[in-house]
Amino acid sequence: MRRTAPRQGLTAVTGAIDVHTHYVPHGWPDLATVAGGGSRWPWLRVTSERDAMIMVGSDEFRRISANCWSGELRLAEMDRDDVAIQVVSPTPVFFSYDRPADQAARVARIFNDLALEICAADPGRLLPFCQVPLQDPDAACAELDRCIAAGHRGVEIGNHVGDRDLDDAGIVTFLQHCAQRDIPVFVHPWDMPDSPRLQRWMAQWLTGMPAETHLSILAMILGGVFDQLPPSLRICFAHGGGSFAFWLGRVDNAWRRRPDVVGTSQQPPSSYVDRFYVDSVVFDHHALRLLVDLVGPERVLLGTDHPYPLGEQPPGSVIRTNPLLSAEEKLALLAGNARTFLGL
Ligand code: CO
Repeated sequence: MRRTAPRQGLTAVTGAIDVHTHYVPHGWPDLATVAGGGSRWPWLRVTSERDAMIMVGSDEFRRISANCWSGELRLAEMDRDDVAIQVVSPTPVFFSYDRPADQAARVARIFNDLALEICAADPGRLLPFCQVPLQDPDAACAELDRCIAAGHRGVEIGNHVGDRDLDDAGIVTFLQHCAQRDIPVFVHPWDMPDSPRLQRWMAQWLTGMPAETHLSILAMILGGVFDQLPPSLRICFAHGGGSFAFWLGRVDNAWRRRPDVVGTSQQPPSSYVDRFYVDSVVFDHHALRLLVDLVGPERVLLGTDHPYPLGEQPPGSVIRTNPLLSAEEKLALLAGNARTFLGL
C-alpha cells in the first residue's frame, strides 16, 4: 500500500472535470456505403426529437437521448451538476476494429469530425477525444495526428483488438506515438466475451467489463509495456481500472510464486501503479478509498460514464459525499488530477 501527500494549491479549482463521458452524433451517413461494404454496421433509429436507438444491423443496442448529441444540452447539465469540463469520448460500438483498417479509418474520420461539431458548443468545456483504427498502427497514428491538429484533446482506445491486448507490438507502437506527442490516452473496455452464461443480468457489463480492464492493465505491466514506454505516457483506465485494484495482491503473489510464467515485468506488478490513472466511477465509498490507497490520491480522476444508464448520477457523488476522503483528496480527484492528465 502506498500513500502520497495530496497535491497542493488546488483550492482555486472551481467545478469538476469529468474524464469519462460519451457522445453519439445525431446523424451519420450509411456506413456500409461510405466504408465500402460489410454488414451489421451501427445506425441510429430516431424515435423522437429527444430520443433514439442505436441499432447494430437489425438488433437494438442502446436507447439514447439528446444529451448524447447536443452540446448545448450537455452544457446545461454540466451547469446543473457543477461540472466545469467534460472529456467527450466515442462510444466503443463505433470503433470498428474488427473491420478492414481502411473501413475503420473512414468511420473514425466521420465520427471524429462529428465530435468536433458537438464540442463546438463550447470547446473550452467540451474536450473531444478521438477514435482511431487501432488495428493498423500507421493509420491510427495518422488519424490521431489529423484529429489533434483539428482540435481533439486526446484519444480513447478500446482495451483490445480481437485477440491482441495492449502489449501487442502494433498497439505499443501507437502508445509510443502518443507518449512522444504527449497526448493523453483513455482506455475503455469493450467487446466483452460472450456466452449464454454472460447474457443474463447484464453480466457482460457487470463482470466482463471489469475483467477486461483488469486484463488490459496486466498486459501493460506483465507484457513489459511500462518497461518499454517512457514514464511520461499519460494513460487512464475506465471504471476504476476494473477489478485490478482489488486483486493486485494476488497478481504480486503470482509474480513471486510463479516467475516462470508471470514474472515477465522487471519489477513487481504493484510497483507500476504510478504509471497510469484510473477514473472514479466505482459507486462505493470504500471501493474508492481502496483505489486511492492503492494507486495514489494523485492517480484517480473523476469519471462518470455520462450519459449512459450505468453512469454515476449525480456526477462525482462518490467523491463529493465520501466521508473517507480528505478535502484535499476530493479536490484532487474532482479536478486537479484531471488537469495533469489532460495537460491543462
Ligand atoms: Co464508458
